[in-house]
Amino acid sequence: MSISGSSAVADEIASLRAQLREHNYRYHVLDEPSIPDATYDRLMRELQALEQAHPELVTEDSPSRRVGDEPLTEFKQVQHEMPMLSLDNAFNAEEMLEFDRRLKQRLGREEDFEYACEPKLDGIAVSLLYRDGVLQRGATRGDGRTGEDITHNIRTVQSIPLSLLGEDYPPLLEVRGEVYLPRDGFEAMNEQARAEGTKLFVNPRNAAAGTLRQLDPRIAASRPLEMCCYSVGVVEGAGESWPGLQSEILARLQSWGLRINSDSDVVQGIAGCDAYYQRLAEKRDSLAYDIDGIVFKVNDIALQQELGFVSRAPRWAIARKFPAQEESTRLLDVEFQVGRTGAITPVARLEPVFVGGVTVSNATLHNRDEIARLGVKKGDTVIVRRAGDVIPQVVSVIGAERPADAKAIRFPSRCPVCDSPVEQIEGEAVVRCTGGLVCQAQRKQSLKHFASRRAMDIEGLGDKLVDQLVDEDLVENAADLYALTVEQLAGLERMAEKSAQNLVAALEASKQTSLARFIFALGIREVGEATALNLANHFGDLPPIIDASEEQLLTVDDVGPIVADHIRQFLDAPQNLEVITALRDAGVRWEQVQVADAGELPLADQTWVVTGSLEVTSRDGAKQALQQLGAKVAGSVSKKTSCVVAGPGAGSKLARAEELGIEVIDEAAFIALLGQHGVSL
Ligand code: IVH
Repeated sequence: MSISGSSAVADEIASLRAQLREHNYRYHVLDEPSIPDATYDRLMRELQALEQAHPELVTEDSPSRRVGDEPLTEFKQVQHEMPMLSLDNAFNAEEMLEFDRRLKQRLGREEDFEYACEPKLDGIAVSLLYRDGVLQRGATRGDGRTGEDITHNIRTVQSIPLSLLGEDYPPLLEVRGEVYLPRDGFEAMNEQARAEGTKLFVNPRNAAAGTLRQLDPRIAASRPLEMCCYSVGVVEGAGESWPGLQSEILARLQSWGLRINSDSDVVQGIAGCDAYYQRLAEKRDSLAYDIDGIVFKVNDIALQQELGFVSRAPRWAIARKFPAQEESTRLLDVEFQVGRTGAITPVARLEPVFVGGVTVSNATLHNRDEIARLGVKKGDTVIVRRAGDVIPQVVSVIGAERPADAKAIRFPSRCPVCDSPVEQIEGEAVVRCTGGLVCQAQRKQSLKHFASRRAMDIEGLGDKLVDQLVDEDLVENAADLYALTVEQLAGLERMAEKSAQNLVAALEASKQTSLARFIFALGIREVGEATALNLANHFGDLPPIIDASEEQLLTVDDVGPIVADHIRQFLDAPQNLEVITALRDAGVRWEQVQVADAGELPLADQTWVVTGSLEVTSRDGAKQALQQLGAKVAGSVSKKTSCVVAGPGAGSKLARAEELGIEVIDEAAFIALLGQHGVSL
């Protein structure tokens, strides 16, 4: 090849690398991708092809060089020239005040400090070394003085630039931060582990630590690790313009292509710290990653230097911890609950423990396989996790604390309520009671579901009353509800004549319903509200659903082979058809649905979220209106959300939408939009 030919190739390679770096930065650091993934992939393939044809032009900092060729045989040790410190903790507002007082006293100062606030990511502390802007080395913190060289794994982390952007970075720059796994990446890893039958990871932190500890970088490359930077270590040759504030250092790092936390902020005094802490505590559950507190740092670096260090922690910073989401406690016993569809759930009875902000005495053990996976016994000390609104769960067992008399947990072979045999269908984790509606537990649960607000909405028919009605043999199935008389009801314990009358009136009122609610109320396995609505919109009335073949059911949105099979099984059972007929004979009715082609609906393919309190309509009303227009309505905000309707009091979902840059509208705008499409509330 001629000289000019090869320099044209070199130019092309340089241009592709610059483009890829820029897009990487936009995607991973700014969270603002400007090209589709496919275009990125195409640029990457072009670069790889050119580099393969011209191996002499390959450089270590090329965006194509994230995964090395060979696993390491051992980890090298790294000495941290500047030790990697840890942080003192504060657990309440009082301890924050003390911290602030201590600093003021030490500096003999009265005016408030400016504090840099950053979420405390629950990951692994890592040091990155850049020489002339090129990543040389990544290392773990280790004991603070000696860590391990994990460069091979660090290079696979997409949010870590292999070379820095811009030109004004110091010739030697050590950056420090946290490597972590976002929650969805962690879930995906565990889903894969479940599918492959390998050991599950206990939490995102352990999963991140385990990944960085691998000798083979291909493992790290296959996992969605991220890094967030929060400080610098050794810096040489920075010159006069080096910033004097922590917040400016972060901004500088970001300008060089390093990721910093988008929630970082600067506040005045300890009151500002407190407000920031409260704000993030609200937001905590909606973040894409785990945080265990907030780090507050005196923003002024000169003051930091004046304050200095005590043993292993700086005086000028403190971590205010959130209430722990995991605690250890003793498992006293296990009970087995039978659900609406017969699923038997083992529930751990625990010695009460304060975790995630509340006292927890029950936690789910999910199913039989989970008990086996945990290897848990009665009497064990276990780790219980409660995060946000998720039901508490047992995540692991502290093996070393097992008492000599710990007892094995025997999963029942017969239903604890009706004594029917249990079954576990191959490939499913759930063990079920085979009693069907013979089982009182299943009967009660399906009646509770039938009466619930989003199903037939029978006001006044609560869980306790359903238990009583079944225990007294007044009701066997849903149709029996409509035959109840005021006399029968008034004869029940704790039931006044007036309430009995009200309930009969509520039953009467519930007869006028919608097809979607009715289908949902039947309690067919895997048929939730959304699927029920899709079925109603697709078929328009019940008889065509009853007559539909499995193939026809499969043409309905969201209905796959498993759901179609459940629907067919339910509708093929004569006793279910009898109940349906009896319900219709009792006067349960709905209006036929106009069958529209979903593709033509104005909000087809969109996913909406409704949050906060609405004034003109209810959340359910808003939901139904959206579904009429073809939108899916989801319970949580993700990248796939098209728009969020937020009323007053909206909290974490709104915060998450803002974080992801998703369109948010208020109720007035929502109603106007519905009006445009001819839907009134
Ligand atoms: S500053 C000299 N900032 O928390 C200051 N640490 O408990 C030392 N961490 O080892 C660290 N987020 O792994 C700092 N915004 C943040 C942090 C943070 C998480 C971790 C870090 C450190 C540990 C100390």
